[in-house]
Amino acid sequence: MEKFYLTTAIDYVNGAPHIGHAYEKILSDVIVRHFTQRCDDVYFLTGTDEHGIKIQKTAIEKGIEPKQMCDENVAKFKEAWKALDVNYNQFIRTTDEEHKKTVQLIFKKLLEKGDIYKHSYTGLYCSGCEGFLNEKDLTEDGLCPIHMKKPEEVSEENYFFRLTKYKDVITKHIKENPDFIIPEFRATEVLNQLENIEDISVSRSSANVSWGIPVLDNNDNIYPQVIYVWIDALSNYITALGYDVENPSGKFQKYWPVVHHVIGKDILKFHSIYWSGILLALGLPLPKQLLVHGFININKEKMSKTLGNVISPIDILKAWDLKIPDAFRYYMVTAAPVGKDGNYSDEDFKEKVNADLANNMGNLLNRTLSMLVKYFDGEIKEEFKTNNPLLNNVKYVIFHVKENFDNFKIQEAGQEIINLVDFTNKYVAGIEPWTLAKEGKMSECGQVLVNVLEVMCVVTALIYPFCPNIAQEMANQLKFDLSMKLDNLTLDNIKIGKLISKEEIKPVFLRLDSEFADKGKG
Ligand code: MSP
Repeated sequence: MEKFYLTTAIDYVNGAPHIGHAYEKILSDVIVRHFTQRCDDVYFLTGTDEHGIKIQKTAIEKGIEPKQMCDENVAKFKEAWKALDVNYNQFIRTTDEEHKKTVQLIFKKLLEKGDIYKHSYTGLYCSGCEGFLNEKDLTEDGLCPIHMKKPEEVSEENYFFRLTKYKDVITKHIKENPDFIIPEFRATEVLNQLENIEDISVSRSSANVSWGIPVLDNNDNIYPQVIYVWIDALSNYITALGYDVENPSGKFQKYWPVVHHVIGKDILKFHSIYWSGILLALGLPLPKQLLVHGFININKEKMSKTLGNVISPIDILKAWDLKIPDAFRYYMVTAAPVGKDGNYSDEDFKEKVNADLANNMGNLLNRTLSMLVKYFDGEIKEEFKTNNPLLNNVKYVIFHVKENFDNFKIQEAGQEIINLVDFTNKYVAGIEPWTLAKEGKMSECGQVLVNVLEVMCVVTALIYPFCPNIAQEMANQLKFDLSMKLDNLTLDNIKIGKLISKEEIKPVFLRLDSEFADKGKG
């Protein structure tokens, strides 16, 4: 696999980032870091979605210009991703001039092609979804099922996108490509939605929504329109690559369509149906894959402003006094399988990272290195390097971690790594190198320690995407080259340092103190 392009959803900036936004970006970063260990050419795009009625309304409430509010909130998003070590290649804002220009040209092209047409319309608009809802989608009380708000009745003459024209092609594509939407059960959901799909409104009257990209060449009798958020937002995946409607080239040609869109379950319809329709209308190939993740709940409850349980990722780091985000990253992506809803609770967080990262992984490394120093002054003698009895376990785990990442089973990949650590811990407990030392069997003792340290090098490489800082610290202590590509990661290739220095040995992860429990909430 040579090229790997991954995008996240672009977040609405009517507030600061919360743990749900953070989950998606961490998940994406973990995936990207893993594939960076396997491919030479990886591109990671994230960004912000800044137009639409929701942003406009929030800015009005605050009494500031929308752009000013966006600028302030974008800074908070960037700051959060920095604190969480989300290492993107590009951050696109839908207010970027280049993006706006290309979106106008995309719209114009579809208009000229006849795939966008004018139509008078009365519909129910949910500003939370930034979309029109059908009567049958509403709750019994007539509310939007996601935002639990009554949608607004809107009557306008708008531009519509001829989505129905592409219904059959999209249906066929989904049926013929089981990997297009994962997890697979989500594809069934989309196929059901496709059955009742209608053409969609793709502009709003600027009298109602002024905060958006204006439709170009709007000099006919239709009143001024702005491009309705989904064409604007979805196009970011190609405008960011410098897509040119006339002559697709450069980065766009390099990475499109080998793209993985990481998105939440609430925006699957927009990505699988609307985005596919837009791409087909532009004559472009469909993306390789939509990876659909679940929602993060807080203490088993849906996160919402009304419940007052919205948590900021930065507050979690602060509350636990975490200087590095590794434990939080690890917990977020391993607490639940990718497609299912996850949960954050202080107790769970503490328990899982203490068990896996401190007691299990960190402790094993620390004890082994300490014994090496105690018995051998940290020196790894040639005679200690023998056939490693853990070789098959290592091979098995490397294979399965890669396989799980190929299928975006990130929790399962994490579990494989911890299983290897567990097994190695049991190996040490069974063989008791300290007893071998007491009995004067120094060479045997040294061999056991080196066997363990070799496994720890593999663990270091595999855990890196989850915990980049801890992995770096482990690599420093082991004198292991963390830049090694996973394809070269075999016990034979691991050149463990000749001398491990006493001064450099320190715990790589300290247990979370119970006194912080319950302070995690922002
Ligand atoms: N702006 C649109 C996406 C446009 S993509 C071309 C949007 N923004 S959002 O800010 O509401 O959501 C951004 C991402 O965060 C989405 O993928 C959404 O599913 C995800 N999440 C929002 N709340 C979430 C949780 N509580 N848990 C996990 N992810 C959640 O939708």
